Parts: sequence; C-alpha cells; structure tokens
Amino acid sequence: MKPLVFAANWKMHLGPPEAREYVTTFLARYRPLRDREVWFFPPAVSLEAVAGGLAAAGRDDLVAGVQDIHWEPRGAFTGAVSAPLASQAGARAALVGHSERRHVFGETDQATGRKVAAALGAALTPVLCVGELLAEREAGQTLAVVTRQLEAALGGERLDHAVLADVVVAYEPVWAIGTGRNATPQDAALVHRHIRSWLVQRGAARTRVLYGGSVSNKNVGGLLAERELDGVLVGGASLDPAGWAELVRTGAA
Ligand code: 13P
Repeated sequence: MKPLVFAANWKMHLGPPEAREYVTTFLARYRPLRDREVWFFPPAVSLEAVAGGLAAAGRDDLVAGVQDIHWEPRGAFTGAVSAPLASQAGARAALVGHSERRHVFGETDQATGRKVAAALGAALTPVLCVGELLAEREAGQTLAVVTRQLEAALGGERLDHAVLADVVVAYEPVWAIGTGRNATPQDAALVHRHIRSWLVQRGAARTRVLYGGSVSNKNVGGLLAERELDGVLVGGASLDPAGWAELVRTGAA
C-alpha cells in the first residue's frame, strides 16, 4: 500500500513570513507516521519558504507543491509559473485543474492535459483535480463529467500505465468546496470507484485517489474509513498549523 496523502491547499493565503512560521509550528506538532505523507501547496510566492523549511527538517514524508503551472516551460506569460520554475523553488508536485482554476479562471479540459504533461516533463507529480458542479450532479451527470475530465487530462495515447501509477487524482465535487457541505463517505466512494475503474482499465490500479471538499477534523475519520479514499485534499482546515497537524494525525486509524 502506498502511504495516504494528506494535502494542504492554502489557496491565496499565507505569505513567506507566515509560511515559515506555519512550517515551524507544524514540524513541532507533527511527528512522522509511517502510513502517511503530508503535502503542502502554498501560494507560489511562499513555495521556496515552505520547501526550504521542509528540506531543513530532512523528512521525506513531507512534500511541497505548486497550486498551478503554465504548460510552457518559460516565456512571455506574465503572472504565470512554469513547472521547471516551481521545481527550482523546491516543488515536487503540482495541482492541475483545481475547480477554482477551471471555474474562476476559465481553465479548459484541454489545458489540463497540457499541464499534466508539463508537470511530468519537469518531474513534478501532477495532482489532477476533477469534480462536478451542483447542477451537473442534479442532472445525473457526475460520472460523465469526471470521465470527460480524466480523458482530457490523462487519456488518449498520452500516458502509459507506469506514468499513470505516479499521478494522483483528487475528486473534489465543486458544490462541496468551501461550503461546509461535504460529500458523504458513500457519495465519495461511488465516484472514487468510478475513477478507480477508469484507472484500472489503463493498468494503473495503484494510482492514489484523494477526496476534497469541506474536509475537517470532524469528518475526516468517517471519510477515510471508506477504503476507496487514499487521502484528502484540504483547503480551509489546513490553514492553522496546529489544527492541520491534528487532522493529519487523527485522520485515519
Ligand atoms: P475546502 O477544504 O476549503 O472546502 O477546500 C477544498 C479544496 O478546494 C482543496 O483543494
């Protein structure tokens, strides 16, 4: 079994001094547990501070990543961060296709495919986020939407099973993000089984599939009791280092 992943997406919070203080507090509160890894996705400006703090601790259960990348390695793309630049700042992973990138910034399915390829090209682990809008769920389209997003980002001839095994998928229903309304463990497991069967058909049975959307210290135990979940991707409840350390520690028996 691969270790569980507890991933913290800080979104647009915590600048470099705050990030350094956060890492110090987190490290003081959290001792490594063999069955789990903790991944941090700070804003790009804080990436080097986080990666440096984690590297200084010399712990390979802790990973720094970037929240978004451009598909080109360099060039005239004002405001964007590329996979090689994030790698230079210490990233080992990259979120791709987060729902806020898709629905606030208009990222297309096609762009997610190019970003997955860019991440892999720079030896970053892509964490592909998929998930349906509330209207899509209510119209019974959840599995079709997730399939379309998987196909666009990971399908076709693009990735063979060895590469797919190292990708991470995060199922984040859009209606559950930042709303306090999480999917039930059963809701999540149903979609996870669908994602898993898509991966298994491509020979990638061991790809980790995370759940995200209003995960908290209160509901994480119930969610991870579902064996289909290989970890969680957490926004709001990851912003306080002591609370996050507690969530990671108690998140699964
Ligand atoms: P919340 O945990 O704040 O709902 O955010 C989830 C998320 O989008 C993580 O990527």
